[in-house]
Amino acid sequence: MNIKHLLLALVSAAFISASTMAQSLSPSTKYHWDKGTLVVDTPTRPAGQQHVLGLTAPKMATVRVGFVGLGMRGPGAVARFTHIPGTQIVALCDYVEARAEACQKYLREAGLPPADIYSGEKGYEELCKRPDIDLVYVATDWDHHFPVAKCALQNGKHTAIEVPSAMNLEQCWELIELSEKTRLHCMILENCCYDWYELNTLNMAQQGVFGEVLRGEGAYIHNLDDFWDYYWKNPDGSDPDKLGWRMKYNMENRGDVYATHGLGPVALAMNIHRGDRFKTLVAMDTKSAHGKEYVEKKTGKPCNNYRNGDQTTTLMRTEEGKVVEIQHNVMNPQPYNRLYKLTGTKGYATKYPEQHYALDKSQLTASGVAPKVDDLSSHGFLPKAEQDALVAKYQHPIIKKYGEMAQKVGGHGGMDFFMDARLVYCLQNGLPLDMDVYDLAEWCCLAELGTLSMDNNCCAVAFPDFTRGYWNTQKGFQFAWANSADEAAAEAAAIASTQAQKDLCAKKKLWEKYDKAKAKKAKK
Ligand SMILES: NC(=O)c1ccc[n+]([C@@H]2O[C@H](COP(=O)([O-])OP(=O)(O)OC[C@H]3O[C@@H](n4cnc5c(N)ncnc54)[C@H](O)[C@@H]3O)[C@@H](O)[C@H]2O)c1
Repeated sequence: MNIKHLLLALVSAAFISASTMAQSLSPSTKYHWDKGTLVVDTPTRPAGQQHVLGLTAPKMATVRVGFVGLGMRGPGAVARFTHIPGTQIVALCDYVEARAEACQKYLREAGLPPADIYSGEKGYEELCKRPDIDLVYVATDWDHHFPVAKCALQNGKHTAIEVPSAMNLEQCWELIELSEKTRLHCMILENCCYDWYELNTLNMAQQGVFGEVLRGEGAYIHNLDDFWDYYWKNPDGSDPDKLGWRMKYNMENRGDVYATHGLGPVALAMNIHRGDRFKTLVAMDTKSAHGKEYVEKKTGKPCNNYRNGDQTTTLMRTEEGKVVEIQHNVMNPQPYNRLYKLTGTKGYATKYPEQHYALDKSQLTASGVAPKVDDLSSHGFLPKAEQDALVAKYQHPIIKKYGEMAQKVGGHGGMDFFMDARLVYCLQNGLPLDMDVYDLAEWCCLAELGTLSMDNNCCAVAFPDFTRGYWNTQKGFQFAWANSADEAAAEAAAIASTQAQKDLCAKKKLWEKYDKAKAKKAKK
């Protein structure tokens, strides 16, 4: 390589890094102070552009999907989609070709046709340009969520993005503008909204079992020591110490960078932007001990600027006077915990370390379950028989419909399957998705808002209204369902579509052809 080529390579590597590296503090955020509260500016909605609350798209018999990002998380999604009738896996894409190629095994096992493979830093651009893809499903590292999602939306594709789906306010607003402008779905893949306890508890909350829910807690407390080494190491020169994207991101960024597992289910139970909204936020973190130590051990160099505290706590107050507390700790030795606690005027729910409910006798009776014991009070948790009866009575319709299949297919105990099955169901039936782009923004902006709070002596920060004036239009969070005739017709079309793909695959011997083509390529 001559000196000119070397310089060109260095410039393009720097360009690639600069174009994809996300940070919690976005370069474009502007703010002012209002009586001691930091207020970030809200961009004006362009004239003629409408909000996307309740957005629907035309029904599709087959949801044609391209997956981008097939490391530890992505392949599970590919496998799950092979179990959902009426989907077609058109393309698989990862930076590393072999990772995309490895996912073909799920299609082969299911008797479905092989998918087309894309790879490299920009392989997703070609995938997004294909006219035969409806949905781009993004499970890359955090730096690539936004560029891939943006490219997908710009190319007319619905987009579902792993968490956190946006890393800062600038990305939140850009995804909102894109979804509003294109009228395409942009969904946060927050699987924890679909866990069994959370779904049943949401159903109870919506039917008044806890009275008015005043306080919610959520968290991502998960010691990642066993995982740090396995995250993808970007070879473009942006990670010279080979820390892996996740450790590097934590090293460079303050704030709750992974808030959505804890916040998502609580926000749904509190009807955020469906009658209430977050108004004020404050955040506080501990110093960084473990992350700093990890980096120093790994690099053999001092690390004096590790940004993410071992434990970050964010508190938010809503317009209706409710409070949510979210915690993040991926550093210290603690049992896995997402907290998920709801405190209501008439009852209490708590998921970790054990799933319980606390209701007194009159509230349990009013909730339709006759207590078998006389001394029932909310000073203790419901006895097992009463809890089982309560859960059975309030079993969520999603669990009723997909529970058996979710147990079979799995994915974090089945919640990942519920999420994907619902995404496909809503697309096939032309219904609003469970989570919209405003949920995405509200759950992902904690990183930047929390950083702004902590960098300013833990001040109060005004929480932006991402709906820009429409947070009180819809009353109460709801999952959309088709009527039974439409649902049956969509299911029949979905089953027929999958069967047709399998028949074609067998008839045309697509896997034999695929293997021959691969063997020929290998010989060259
Ligand atoms: N919802 C959950 O329960 C859950 C669980 C685990 C991970 N996640 C999320 O899933 C995402 C992936 O995490 P992971 O553990 O699989 O990380 P990983 O490091 O194992 O995988 C990331 C993948 O992205 C690929 N990639 C990087 N740049 C790319 C590009 N330009 N085009 C295509 N592919 C590219 C890498 O090659 C790698 O295979 C993260 O956002 C993470 O937060 C969510």
